Parts: sequence; structure tokens; C-alpha cells
Amino acid sequence: MTMLPADEEAIAQARALRDEFQRFLLEYRFGLREIETKISILREEFEQAHDYNPIEHVTSRVKSPDSLVEKVGRKGIAPDFDSIRAGITDIAGIRITCSFVSDAYRLFDLLTRQDDVRVRSVKDYIAEPKANGYKSLHAILEVPVFLSSGRVDVPVEVQFRTIAMDFWASLEHKIYYKYDRRVPAELLDSLKEAADSAAELDSRMARLHSEVHGIRSTPARVTAV
Ligand code: GTP
Ligand code: MG
Repeated sequence: MTMLPADEEAIAQARALRDEFQRFLLEYRFGLREIETKISILREEFEQAHDYNPIEHVTSRVKSPDSLVEKVGRKGIAPDFDSIRAGITDIAGIRITCSFVSDAYRLFDLLTRQDDVRVRSVKDYIAEPKANGYKSLHAILEVPVFLSSGRVDVPVEVQFRTIAMDFWASLEHKIYYKYDRRVPAELLDSLKEAADSAAELDSRMARLHSEVHGIRSTPARVTAV
């Protein structure tokens, strides 16, 4: 190795770290893309086969470096790539918003049944909502990505929810941050009521839909993990 003056060496080290960080995030971007492709294939094929589209919209993101650093600090994870890889499973995240609760479960089944997808963990906040009223089905899926250096299994957090759940969650998120995580009790009560109304809307829409189409759309639970 050639000797560099101290500050040049520091710059070279910082550059190497930056490159390593970019490569690290790239794996997650690829994992995301694999799952996104699976979702768009399901969406297109479902539309073709059943003349019905169970997906309203899909959003995805790779966690920003700022938010990753914040979470590493908050969870007390050692700041090296292996520890971050092991300890943080939502670096790649996808949210699938469906019209009906039954579609959220159906999408979960269709994705997790694929034999290159491994389910690492599931949290069913639809069957068991959080105390604040939050509902969504969360799964940490692992998908293989094939790089020039070989295979890596990349975790991707997938959230399945309805439009009503999504509407509620985005409002709750804004309120939470507006009050810097200290939301007044009355507002928490109103949010809980709004969550109940959203759930009521979901069941009314499902009933209406099944009356019109004769499709059974009773919400299920996660069956296979
Ligand atoms: P983090 O909350 O991300 O540290 O992970 P966790 O291990 O607690 O996982 P969990 O499955 O509970 O939450 C993961 C993600 O779901 C969060 O990052 C949010 O996007 C969403 N989420 C969970 N709880 C709430 C909630 O009460 N309100 C809203 N708006 N979103 C939530
Ligand atoms: Mg949480």
C-alpha cells in the first residue's frame, strides 16, 4: 500500500466507507426490485385471469441513510454492516394497498407461497390491531438476489393494508410527528375512534362488494407462516 499524508488517508478511508455503504444499500434496492416484480406479475396476471385487480397501489422505498443511522442508534446496534444487516429488517420496504381486507390476505398468500420467498416473520395487526388502532399485515420476507459475487438473501418488509387503513396510518403518522410523539390524550381517543370507523367502512365496503359480485370476502387470518 502506498503511504499517503494523514488527511489524504482519512479521505481515502471515508471514500471506501461511502462505497461500501452504497454497495450495502444496493442489495436492498435489488431485493426490493425482485419483490416489486413479483407484485406486478401477480397484479397483471390476476387482472387477466379474474378480470379483477386486488391492488390499489404499491409504494416502496429504501430507508434513507439518515433514518438508518437514527434507527441504529435507537436500537443500540453496533455500527458495522454485519450488525446492521442482522438487526434491521426494514431497510427495504414495500406497502401494498388493497381495496378489501380479503385482498390483503390474498396477496400475502400469493407472495409467500412462492418457493423462492422465505417468510422470516409476520405481525398481523389486522387480526390484532395495536392499542392506538393501527391495522396492517406486516411480513419480513427474504428474497434471493444474484450478484456477480454470488447469492444474497435480502430481507424486505412488506406491509399489506386497505385504503382505509392506509388513510388512517398516514394521518396518525403526521399527527405523531406534529406533536413530537407526545400526542394529547383526547386526540389519541379521536384517532382510536377514527380507526374503528375505518374498520367499519372496510367491512361495509366488503359486504357491498360481495352483494354486487357474489364474491366471498370475509377477512381471513394468516394461515401459513
Ligand atoms: P419499527 O417500528 O420500524 O422500529 O419496527 P418494529 O419492529 O416495531 O415493527 P412493526 O412491525 O411494529 O412496525 C413496522 C412499521 O409499521 C413502522 O416502521 C411503520 O411504518 C408501521 N407502523 C407500525 N406501527 C404503526 C403505528 O402505530 N402507526 C403508523 N402510522 N404506522 C405504524
Ligand atoms: Mg414499531
